[in-house]
Amino acid sequence: MEKLYARVSAISGYVPEKKLTNADLEKMVDTNDEWIKTRTGIKERRILEDGKATSDLAFPVVIDLCKQKGISPEDIECIIVATTTPDMFFPSTSNLVAYKSGAKNAWTFDLMAACSGFLFALNTGANLIASGRYKKVIVIGADKMSSIVDYTDRNTCVLFGDGAGGVLLEPTTKVTGIVDSILRVDGVGKDFLYMKAGGSQRPSSIETVTNKEHFIFQEGTTVFKYAVKAMADVSYEMMQKHNLQADDVKYLVPHQANLRIIKATADRMGLDMDKVMINIEKYGNTTAATIPLCLWEWKDKLKNGDNLILASFGAGFTWGSIFLKWDL
Ligand code: UT7
Repeated sequence: MEKLYARVSAISGYVPEKKLTNADLEKMVDTNDEWIKTRTGIKERRILEDGKATSDLAFPVVIDLCKQKGISPEDIECIIVATTTPDMFFPSTSNLVAYKSGAKNAWTFDLMAACSGFLFALNTGANLIASGRYKKVIVIGADKMSSIVDYTDRNTCVLFGDGAGGVLLEPTTKVTGIVDSILRVDGVGKDFLYMKAGGSQRPSSIETVTNKEHFIFQEGTTVFKYAVKAMADVSYEMMQKHNLQADDVKYLVPHQANLRIIKATADRMGLDMDKVMINIEKYGNTTAATIPLCLWEWKDKLKNGDNLILASFGAGFTWGSIFLKWDL
């Protein structure tokens, strides 16, 4: 059989209407617009309304992807949802996304790799396509981060927002789409960015709720140091592996956690900032959704054949880069 590649044949995103601005946060915790903008690059984020869940961010993406291609959700064979904020422990969020979008013939699963979730899921989806067994796979990154943010903790509450983005993958025999992936994990990160309770290690109790252990805990400076090095190194490694010079790269598509981490990665790759997709000012860190949301917003500026380097770093630690040749 001829070698198959997975091309991104449609891209979509979804963000809730409601905005939480730096000015709003100034009224909630001891922070200020200047600190948030200079330390992170964020001006506002989107917040999903109470009573709605991650699957409500993700299922409109399935519907829109199918609409763009003139197909029915029933034509989708598999849906992978990367998320750190599932609707429930079980059943999986992807199961609910299939149900809500009418993707009755798809098998589905969730994938957890925190902020690198979309890249890990994209690699997985691409390999399902490359196996020759599936012809229509949807990969989504979706997170309702507001559900695990402590809005009295200024260290974390300014950073995160809610959103979802996703792609439809289809096979091609051209060397295009997801050309290569370098994905890594290191459990050394477990103490620096995590949720203290609610899992099997420390099940929920009155004590864990009282101690606010069901929110994001982050030792920001340590994570920052790892992130700057790992994301820059892995992006540069991908360029070297494929003999790509800065001029050959149309865009860096980085995870949006901190503008300073993004700039360090671009510097290492020798890219000017006008070749970097950045929307952190509007959405903050939407965890698994940042990279597909960027692709969605930039889609009209992309031409077939453009070389994109996707790069991420997140809890775990998890990090990686994907070489995506655009071929919509
Ligand atoms: O997406 C997954 C991976 N996550 C990341 O990549 C995030 C990596 N980390 C970061 O982006 C940065 O570490 C943060 C943006 C989280 C923090 O920036 P920082 O430059 O590392 O600041 P810091 O935590 O060292 O805090 C500096 C000061 C502290 O005050 P003192 O101790 O110097 O008096 C903080 O208490 O800034 C203070 N601070 C704030 N001040 C105003 C912390 N948060 C705030 C705030 N407003 N919201």
